[in-house]
Amino acid sequence: MPKAGSDLKLDGNGKPLWLVLELTYKCPLKCPWCSNPLGFEDYANELTTQEWKTVLRDARKIGSLQLGFSGGEPMVRSDLEELVDEADTLGYYTNLISSGVGLTKDRLKELKRVGLKQIQISLQHNDAAKNDAMVGVKSFEQKMQCIEDIKSIGFPVVMNVPVSRFNIDAVEDIIKLAEYHNVEFLEFANLQYYNWALLNRDELLPTIEQLQHAEAKVNEARARLGKNMTIYFVIPDYFDGRPKACMNGWGAIHLTIAPDGSALPCQEAQTITHLEFPNVKDRPLDWIWNESPTFNAYRGTSWMKEPCVGCDEKENDFGGCRCQAFALTGDATNTDPACSKSPHFDMITSAVENARVTGRPGMPLVMRTRGAVSNLMKKVC
Ligand code: FES
Repeated sequence: MPKAGSDLKLDGNGKPLWLVLELTYKCPLKCPWCSNPLGFEDYANELTTQEWKTVLRDARKIGSLQLGFSGGEPMVRSDLEELVDEADTLGYYTNLISSGVGLTKDRLKELKRVGLKQIQISLQHNDAAKNDAMVGVKSFEQKMQCIEDIKSIGFPVVMNVPVSRFNIDAVEDIIKLAEYHNVEFLEFANLQYYNWALLNRDELLPTIEQLQHAEAKVNEARARLGKNMTIYFVIPDYFDGRPKACMNGWGAIHLTIAPDGSALPCQEAQTITHLEFPNVKDRPLDWIWNESPTFNAYRGTSWMKEPCVGCDEKENDFGGCRCQAFALTGDATNTDPACSKSPHFDMITSAVENARVTGRPGMPLVMRTRGAVSNLMKKVC
C-alpha cells in the first residue's frame, strides 16, 4: 500500500489499476495538440520487447488490470502483437490507442487472435481535407478503411475526436459519420492544454458559444440514437470553473511507462521539471509505485495548501491537475488555476477571453515535428 499517510482516498485500494504503456514517441502524424513531450525526439532509447514484458508482469503483480498500448503511434512497434499476447495471458483487459495509420487488416486479425479487447481510433474531422490538414498528413482514407476493418473483424469501435476550435462546429457531421460506420462509442475529447496543446492554446481553444452549441448537438444526438451509440462530451475545465479530479488523484490508480522506461503518475508528469522519474530499468516497479518520492509527492491531501486544504471538495477533485498547476503557476502544490477558488483563476478566464481573437498574428499552429520548438524559439527570440 502507498505510504503517503492516513488521508489517502484511493478508489483502486492503492493499486495502479490503469496502466498505460507508451511504447514509442514515434508517430507518422504531426498533431499540434499532441500530449507527448515538446522534445519527444530526445527519447531515443525505447524499452526492448523483453523489458516491456517484464513491466507487464511486474505491474500485474501490484494490481494493474486495465491496460492501454499507446504512443506516439503504437503500430510503429513491430512487437505489438507479441506484447498484447503476453498481456492477455497475464489477464489484462487490453486497449489499443491508435491513429489507425499502419493498422492493417492483417495486423488487426493477429491482434484479435492474440486477445486484444478494444481499439480506439482517433479522427479529427468528417471532411477528409480538413482532417488531413489538422494532422499534417494524408490519413483520412486510411482511418475510414481501418474502421471498416475493425468492424469486420468483430471489435467494438471507439472513435476518439480531439476537439478544438478547428472541428467543434462539425460535431453534428462527425456524429453522422460515426452513425454511418455503426460506431459503438464516440468520444469528443475536449483538449487538455499541456505540451503541444499548451504551446498552441491560443489557436486551439474554442469559444464558450462554440462549446454550448456543440453540447446541444450532442444532446440531440443522444436523444435520437439512444443505446445505439454512446457519446461522451464533457465541458472542459477551462469553461467550467471547477477543476477536474485529474487521474483520480496523483498516484491513486494511474501508472504510465514512457518509451524509455520512466515511470510517470500521468502522461504529462514530465512537464513538472523538478521531479525525478524513476526508471523500471533501475528500480522494482513495486518500489516505484509504493515508495518513490515522485509517486508520493502529491498523493492524498497532505501536500495541499490553501485554498485546497480548507476546501470541502478536496477529497473529490484533489485540487485539480498538478501538471496544469505547475505549467501555469510554476508551483505544482498550488490549486489548479481552473478552479474558481484559485487566486490564479484569472489566468484561465483571460485565456478563454483571448480565444475570441482568431489566433495570434504571424503565429501559425506549431505542428509536432522534430525541431519545431527550437525553430519557434529562434523565430520568437
Ligand atoms: Fe498530470 Fe493532471 S495531467 S496530474
